[in-house]
Amino acid sequence: MALDTHTMSPGLEGVPIAQSAISLVDGEAGQLYYRGYSIEELTAHCRFEEIVALLFDGELPGQARLAEVTAQLEAGRALSPGHVELARHAATLAHPMFALQGAIAALGPARNDFDQHQEDFAGAAQRGIQLIGQVGHLTGVIAQAVAGRAYDGPRPGESHASMMLRMLTGAEPSALHERTMNALLILQADHSAGNASTFTTRVVTSTKADPVAAISAAVGALSGPAHGGANEASLRLFMEIGSPARAEAEVNRMLAERVKIPGFGHRVYRVKDPRSAVIQRLAGDVIVREQERDLYDIALTVERVVGDRLGPRGLWPNVDLFSGCVFAALDIPIDFFTPCFAASRTAGWAVHLKEQLESGNRIFRPSQIWAGADVRPFQPLSARA
Ligand SMILES: CC(C)(COP(=O)(O)OP(=O)(O)OC[C@H]1O[C@@H](n2cnc3c(N)ncnc32)[C@H](O)[C@@H]1OP(=O)(O)O)[C@@H](O)C(=O)NCCC(=O)NCCS
Repeated sequence: MALDTHTMSPGLEGVPIAQSAISLVDGEAGQLYYRGYSIEELTAHCRFEEIVALLFDGELPGQARLAEVTAQLEAGRALSPGHVELARHAATLAHPMFALQGAIAALGPARNDFDQHQEDFAGAAQRGIQLIGQVGHLTGVIAQAVAGRAYDGPRPGESHASMMLRMLTGAEPSALHERTMNALLILQADHSAGNASTFTTRVVTSTKADPVAAISAAVGALSGPAHGGANEASLRLFMEIGSPARAEAEVNRMLAERVKIPGFGHRVYRVKDPRSAVIQRLAGDVIVREQERDLYDIALTVERVVGDRLGPRGLWPNVDLFSGCVFAALDIPIDFFTPCFAASRTAGWAVHLKEQLESGNRIFRPSQIWAGADVRPFQPLSARA
């Protein structure tokens, strides 16, 4: 029997899976750059639509290009009545993340022939922009159904951030809330090729599958509490803790029981995740109600206690420790924190999908180290104990 004999890196730690020029995570310095620009500057100055153009084109757009991408996003986000109905029905059956995954898969074409479009890179960009619009729209459709509200779709001229926030909350967003949502969309739009959901996008794309197959698979990967699901898990933890005074004892108990604290730790960052610092600046402006102020105080206590214990081992807050408090301050229901993350990250997934196609798109087919039984003779059922 031929056996694979390579050494293994659990979780593929340190194994490059792509050559990429989209975003750079500097884990030692705690910096994140999209196409060379720091996320601090991008979140302070840009609209999400500009970031979509930047990620696809490699350059910040001028007025004309921004208008073009904005129009593509607006036209692309349209959904058929059947898709709206399907998403609303899925919302009654499962957590919004699973409803979203199914609704995205149902956007696929009637013919399964993406194989023929492997070198149509412009087409992949167009399809990607369409999917960014549609995933944001679907997130809003599912939120309206969960809240028992009628479907009230995107309006002409509405920004991506404004459309999502209005559909998610059922209220017209204030300028501050729209700015905050816009910054969250930018902040979570990409995080290099190696994170689990983006890697998933690339693996599925490498089979020459349709983009909807890649994006819906990525939503599944993001749902896990070790990945995007941690934003929901961390806020639920703060709600259970209930008050800053109880936080220290509770996280010490969790650490003693070796329970992982959601919102802490990262494979790449050895210092505080730069996205959590940006989110804390947003929190300072947008958290005004006592309820979220208390949750945020609990988060700060968790940061201090866990940081004292685990910081020396290189474990610091990641994007998800504080993002839930900000989502809550925007009136986004807790079950929609991870779908909002998915809607943001669809931008990154779509651009990585295109980069994967441009790279020659060889199918991912790693090996294994055999740890099973030796070859043995078959026994018929009548001879088995
Ligand atoms: C992000 C994460 C999945 C990275 O996983 P990883 O790179 O495989 O790291 P490991 O799980 O191997 O952790 C290494 C060590 O740190 C500990 N650790 C990691 N994250 C921890 C956390 N959040 N709380 C407590 N301990 C943690 C592990 O128990 C392990 O300890 P050990 O060496 O004594 O066994 C992991 O840190 C985690 O599960 N964090 C919580 C979920 C989360 O916030 N995810 C969002 C990521 S953006």
